[in-house]
Amino acid sequence: MKIAVPKERRAGEARVAASPDTVRKFVQLGFDVAIEAGAGAGASIGDEVFREAGATIAADSKALYAEGDVVLKIQRPTDEEAGLLKPGAVLVGGMAALANRDLMTTLAERRVTVFAMELLPRITRAQSMDILSSQANLAGYKAVLDAAGEFTRAIPMMMTAAGTIAPARFLILGAGVAGLQAIATAKRLGGVVYAFDVRPAVKEQVESLGGRFVEVDAEAVKDAETAGGYAKEMGEDYKRKQAAKIAETLKKTDIAICTALIPGKPAPVLITEDMVKDMRPGSVIVDLAVEAGGNCPLSEFDKVVVKHGVTLVGYGNVPARLAVDASALFAKNLLNFITPLVDKEAKTLTFNWDDEILKGTCVARDGVVVHPALAS
Ligand code: NAI
Repeated sequence: MKIAVPKERRAGEARVAASPDTVRKFVQLGFDVAIEAGAGAGASIGDEVFREAGATIAADSKALYAEGDVVLKIQRPTDEEAGLLKPGAVLVGGMAALANRDLMTTLAERRVTVFAMELLPRITRAQSMDILSSQANLAGYKAVLDAAGEFTRAIPMMMTAAGTIAPARFLILGAGVAGLQAIATAKRLGGVVYAFDVRPAVKEQVESLGGRFVEVDAEAVKDAETAGGYAKEMGEDYKRKQAAKIAETLKKTDIAICTALIPGKPAPVLITEDMVKDMRPGSVIVDLAVEAGGNCPLSEFDKVVVKHGVTLVGYGNVPARLAVDASALFAKNLLNFITPLVDKEAKTLTFNWDDEILKGTCVARDGVVVHPALAS
């Protein structure tokens, strides 16, 4: 059985879906591993390093795809790649499946078995396979560093002979995986950190990291969480109260880190243009939600812009800006997903379609799109 790891083709993608560590483990499991030449360059992994770990290097991407029984990807295939996958191949990676129904149908018609790792159920057993968590954690960290880089003041309090510098004040909007890491990072830098989220369960987590939780309406948030632990879209009354609270907090905030997302929906707008106007000049907003429309409508995808004296950072694909660690963790997530499926005797993958992890992630098999969120 051959695992193929292509070079990622989408613009700005520096990550790679295998690491020397995962190559070694796949070889131990009985796989042949082929890596496309240069696939690791963006993550500082040379072909030689992959070869030493036991992989072969494929110069020709057509041949790589033609032989790949299992294809590992960071991002969904381009149309060209979709045409290269061999019938019967198993494709595992980030697919953005819910937003790319046509591509999923094309893959199904080509009889590719597709696992969309972003749809993995958030259950304890699946934590080690969770690409959203591994990548969001790094994005939350990098967002704070990006903010610090743009900020024209220092972050920690400094008492010097020439006078005292006040610590920077952060507001973290959305305290999921990215937001919690942003809180921890901002605290490490010496910032004063406020955070809020619609899910009340988060309050304790924010406080355990040394952040202060901004409370909006304790009564209204009792029903803010889905059974899967995600946020729901909130009602108009809550949104009004939330906007007032954010506006008030932002006036005293130097750096806002936006991470609020609602799965399958546009990101909630939390910082309006009027609120930006009221922020102190020189403040910074990093909008990690920019790819889902942004928590602030003034942020621009993949750009750093200054509006009303406030710097708005809207980098897309932030995990790719930490490509070495992001690749290592993503690759490990894929290894952890595939390992329980390996039948070493039969040298094949076996699927128990009743397993909730497979049910949750499998988008296409046997020629049809099977995921309940996509099957119409
Ligand atoms: P996410 O990326 O979907 O959203 C980020 C945050 O934005 C969430 O905390 C959400 O509540 C918040 N948010 C949404 N709308 C908002 C609004 N209008 N105002 C303020 N905040 C808003 O979420 P993420 O980071 O993927 O985590 C989702 C949940 O899954 C969390 O409860 C997390 O702890 C849980 N989780 C569980 C895992 C497991 O057990 N395997 C693994 C990872 C996460």
